[in-house]
Amino acid sequence: MKTQEIKDLFSKYVIPNYNRAPIAIVKGEGSWIWDSDGKKYLDFFPGWGVSGIGHCHPKVVEAVKKQAEKLFHIDNTYYSEEQGRFAEILSTKGNGQQCFFCNSGAEAAEGAIKLARLHCQPRYKVVTLLNSFHGRTFAAMTATGQPGKQKGLTPLVPGFSYAKINNLASVKELVDDETCAVMVEPVQGEGGVNPCTLEFLQGLRDLCDEKGICLIFDEVQTTPARLGTWFGYQHFNIQPDILTSAKAIAGGMPMGIIMAKPEVAKSLVPGMHASTFGGNSIGCAAGIATFEAIEEDGMLGNIERIGKIIDARVESLKNSTGGIKGIRRVGFMIGIELEFEGAALVQECMDNGLRVNCTQGNILRMLPAFNITEDEIATGFGIIEDAVKKSLA
Ligand SMILES: Cc1ncc(COP(=O)(O)O)c(C=O)c1O
Repeated sequence: MKTQEIKDLFSKYVIPNYNRAPIAIVKGEGSWIWDSDGKKYLDFFPGWGVSGIGHCHPKVVEAVKKQAEKLFHIDNTYYSEEQGRFAEILSTKGNGQQCFFCNSGAEAAEGAIKLARLHCQPRYKVVTLLNSFHGRTFAAMTATGQPGKQKGLTPLVPGFSYAKINNLASVKELVDDETCAVMVEPVQGEGGVNPCTLEFLQGLRDLCDEKGICLIFDEVQTTPARLGTWFGYQHFNIQPDILTSAKAIAGGMPMGIIMAKPEVAKSLVPGMHASTFGGNSIGCAAGIATFEAIEEDGMLGNIERIGKIIDARVESLKNSTGGIKGIRRVGFMIGIELEFEGAALVQECMDNGLRVNCTQGNILRMLPAFNITEDEIATGFGIIEDAVKKSLA
């Protein structure tokens, strides 16, 4: 179909709640995507972080094909080998946590909040952070510390309050006898690529231990591998009681997970929570293949190596253009702070065949695929350099 024909379908039949770029993407491979007119783009923001191992990784394609011929889906009335094997991998790469499977980041956040309430009942309050992002369903949206995302949707879910990132005193002020959990992203993504400090996370861990409440890490963006470790919490060496993940966990298939220490997980008893598609056979087969691909292709090492190259490129961009304030980077969560508003720069990059994102007005955001190459980084940064110079001219 021609781009215009696809756009016509959307204008008639799809609720226009997204601001879409005026192109349709028809193919993806590794760090590259193609539009319906055959134009090729280097993708530094693949699927908003979903295609962490690149688009259509051959190992995942193969696993999905094989599983599709055997069994698409079996409901949670029964055991399934794929779900059990994927849980084993997740638990083994982690620290013996147990898994609950669902479909998205927001659904995982909902389940994590329910688990914390069940575990600590009758305590029910949750402290999250300003500028956080946890999803669009009601509890996840209420947990999200950005009033703009809650506008027109009141009344919100009771019991949520918002502290400041890297300010332990502001968390302590909000935790009281009715609090069941503190929930944070170890590195805020949507909020502008803001990493929690080690000291802050350690302080939260100590506080939750002292009060007997749950520390929840929202690792929807940071797990797997994004920070250069299997789980984001391993980068900081701070153990949450509950964590959530989604996005890249199953190589591009829709999948969300909650993982919890067994002593916390046991509070989720039959009848209290469920998800029809959760642990879907194809999704789990894709998840297993994703973890194998990360391991076999040495992607954790690639993130470490390429990350340093990116730092050097940003430094030279700063010197050559004067348009860059600095970089916030943990593994492959990358935010480059611009001296100017970034929307036009993103468009200029796209026109020249590079996809990047901008958040919070002036944070040029990248979530590259874990297997991106040095040459691809050089190509992308060449485009960014020209675009920054043009923006400043
Ligand atoms: C940290 C974080 N949590 C939760 C979500 C929500 O995930 P989903 O869109 O899969 O519901 C996102 C999505 O961007 C996210 O970045």
